[in-house]
Amino acid sequence: MNTPKNDLFLKALQGATLDRPPVWMMRQAGRYLPDFMKLKAKYDFFTRCQTPELAAEITVMPIDQIGTDAAILFSDILVVPQAMGVDVQMKPDIGPWLPNPVRTQADVDRVEVPDVHERLHYVMDGIRHTLERLDNEVPLIGFAGSPWTIFCYMVQGQGSKTFDKAKALCFSEPAVAHQLLQKITDTTIAYLKAKRAAGVHALQLFDSWGGVLSPEDYTTFSWGYSKQIIDALGDEVPVIMFAKGCWYALQEMAQSKVSALGIDWTCTARNARYLTGGKMTLQGNFDPSRLLSPIPEIQKRTRDMIEQFGTTNYIANLGHGILPNIPVDHAKAFVDAVKSYRPRRY
Ligand code: CP3
Repeated sequence: MNTPKNDLFLKALQGATLDRPPVWMMRQAGRYLPDFMKLKAKYDFFTRCQTPELAAEITVMPIDQIGTDAAILFSDILVVPQAMGVDVQMKPDIGPWLPNPVRTQADVDRVEVPDVHERLHYVMDGIRHTLERLDNEVPLIGFAGSPWTIFCYMVQGQGSKTFDKAKALCFSEPAVAHQLLQKITDTTIAYLKAKRAAGVHALQLFDSWGGVLSPEDYTTFSWGYSKQIIDALGDEVPVIMFAKGCWYALQEMAQSKVSALGIDWTCTARNARYLTGGKMTLQGNFDPSRLLSPIPEIQKRTRDMIEQFGTTNYIANLGHGILPNIPVDHAKAFVDAVKSYRPRRY
């Protein structure tokens, strides 16, 4: 595989000494970009995901318009439950909507572990199209939801603040919950291997809903499964684990084959460095809402964040996905502040 011309992101994942960290933004492909809104008005969500030319066009938008050091494929974590035979819809004001949630042993028995090459070939086609469009300028990140986060949507049937129905299944019928989590894990391993074979340079696992679990339940119902994925892939490709709200698990996660750990804005750089032993590459953790601050404030806070994390073993990013109401010039100010950062020499 060719090394991209801008390989700062891959170097940070390897722990190379750098003068400035690389920068990208979670959920950078879509949401706040006016050109994306135009495509959104024309094509429904899954059409955008399933059409390789459209996915590639949306993926390269932030590279051309904002100048991030890495691209993340336009897709969604919910294409996995779809491929497992579960109906997933995207409703304009509700978000993800699964009309037939998985809640019983019989439901779990019906869930398939599919041939990902057949059901998700459009994602691999999207990767190949995107690599052509990127022309080796920057690396491409592939991703999946963690088994726990996918389980949350499959069982709850929609987004939730508490995911109480998903947790209820774990606590009342743990054997059924574990069977479903294992099916999701097996599918995700095959899916990410296929993404790697199609040419992505790195992978990120999004455990967006890990933080609804207690530390003990996190180990049982979430980390145990994400770790299987990291064990299966970590020797072949750099894997970034982003577990939102799970600072308490950083120490355990740092012992695995991950190349980097994502940090949200509720955890200080100092605490994250302490918990992960000092040398692990960390990614994050600018509060996405802080991009609503005036530009000089964004610039100052971005520089402060780099001072706190350091320029080596660090990837500048947000602490979660960019919000749809962020002005484009504010997002660009964040990225530019990282790119123009130079260490203070004393
Ligand atoms: O990073 C990127 O920009 C690449 C594309 C990407 C999307 N979803 C596109 C999308 C990525 C990496 C995701 C991941 C994702 N999807 C996560 C994990 C990251 C996170 O934010 O926690 C989760 C939990 C989902 C599930 C999901 N998909 C939700 C809750 C929603 C609705 C609300 C929203 O905008 O987040 C989606 C829809 C979705 N996925 C949109 C986009 C651009 C918006 C809908 C649309 O464009 O029609």
